[in-house]
Amino acid sequence: MKLLVIGSGGREHAIAWKLAQSAKVTQVYVAPGNGGTAHEPKVQNLDLSEHAALADFAKHEGIRFTVVGPEAPLAAGIVDYFQARKLAIFGPTRAAAQLESSKDFAKQFMTRMGIPTAAYQSFSDPEEAHRYVDAQGAPIVVKADGLAAGKGVVVAQSLEEAHQAIDWMLKDQSFGQAGARVVIEDFLVGEEASFIAMVDGEHVLALASSQDHKRLGDGDIGPNTGGMGAYSPAPIVTPDVHAFVMREVMNKAVRGMAAEGQRYFGFLYAGLMIDPKKGVRVLEFNCRLGDPETQPLMVRLRSDLVDLIEAALAGKLNQTEAHWDRRHAVGVVLASKGYPQAPRLGDPIRGLSNKGAAFSLGQAKRLDSSADHGRFVFHAGTEHQGGELLSSGGRVLCVVGMGDSVKLAQQHAYESMAQIGLEGGQYRKDIAWRARRSNGTGL
Ligand SMILES: Nc1ncnc2c1ncn2[C@@H]1O[C@H](COP(=O)(O)OP(=O)(O)O)[C@@H](O)[C@H]1O
Ligand SMILES: [Mg+2]
Repeated sequence: MKLLVIGSGGREHAIAWKLAQSAKVTQVYVAPGNGGTAHEPKVQNLDLSEHAALADFAKHEGIRFTVVGPEAPLAAGIVDYFQARKLAIFGPTRAAAQLESSKDFAKQFMTRMGIPTAAYQSFSDPEEAHRYVDAQGAPIVVKADGLAAGKGVVVAQSLEEAHQAIDWMLKDQSFGQAGARVVIEDFLVGEEASFIAMVDGEHVLALASSQDHKRLGDGDIGPNTGGMGAYSPAPIVTPDVHAFVMREVMNKAVRGMAAEGQRYFGFLYAGLMIDPKKGVRVLEFNCRLGDPETQPLMVRLRSDLVDLIEAALAGKLNQTEAHWDRRHAVGVVLASKGYPQAPRLGDPIRGLSNKGAAFSLGQAKRLDSSADHGRFVFHAGTEHQGGELLSSGGRVLCVVGMGDSVKLAQQHAYESMAQIGLEGGQYRKDIAWRARRSNGTGL
């Protein structure tokens, strides 16, 4: 069986690596892929990006199904295009992907369905937006309506910041069409978690819980990034929280989309704010897996991902279970010098072999003689040039460690990271600190 994965990040390396583990799979193509997928066993990069070229390739090669990693191709309608050509693809249509690509659409939808979320209003007229913010007071949150690569949200601590954000988005049109409308919503307190599920139009199969670290600096301070690390499971997602989110968020969303004529297929990600006093509220929906949450999730997934996706494509997720390694997984992102403002590219990366995610750390293997040594490297911004592995993006790679405790998983990740060399490279030293704090023992 041949499969196709769309994307080039650490998430896509992890998806491709996991799909390639399946005994049914002979080849996984990743378009365009990265320096890690280039050397992953049974995986091959594909230098294509146009929907028509990708669909031609899928047809010609007899690709069994395609998995879409990032949001941009979904919002651009790649699923509609493949479906029109009778090609199996796992992801939402362009209309259904509005749950992510329009925050205004998502807020209106949640309100109609009674899905818990912050109170809000949407504006395209700056004067009305300014008046609303003055009436509401700070702190308050201003969000560009459309896709803004994680840069379209301002959590304004003061009225001044909120007014600036409105002008920046609506008047200066810093995000173009994506910022032609803004959602202004109440500031919520609590702890964030990622709730990710697979959806087959009707049924919801939840993946294991996870949590990411968006800020650049230790202690969750500094500028926002694409994500500096993630771990699974996330202890804040207790069985009660899980049950509540399945009932009040996921099932309502999937039934609601179907009832409104937009059946939802694909991964569905609810970004949650969990407050022990006020309960759980949805910050946003994403129509895909998270990056870097996918990396720890894929190493914990024991089930065959091919089976899960085939069950989803057949509308049979209700007859399917996902099995998870009970160990913890902690993923730490290595970013380039200058990330996120001005990442420096083209630096050599040392300490990795070219044997794919599971075996990239030749030395780490010797630290632990068990067959599954619980250490993985998923590439993101890397490329091979003249026999060297070079950085080619802000986030360069993600090292994942597994262990019986959070502490051990962390230790495995950081031991592995210490063996990798990247000049000016930066990584956080405290990934999963919340998980260690919340289990009371520090373990
Ligand atoms: N209503 C809110 N209250 C407090 N913080 C928020 C709120 N909405 C968003 N945030 C913060 O901003 C981040 C980004 O917002 P989000 O809605 O997830 O947009 P995106 O991921 O598209 O940038 C969240 O992860 C959260 O930290
Ligand atoms: Mg988000």
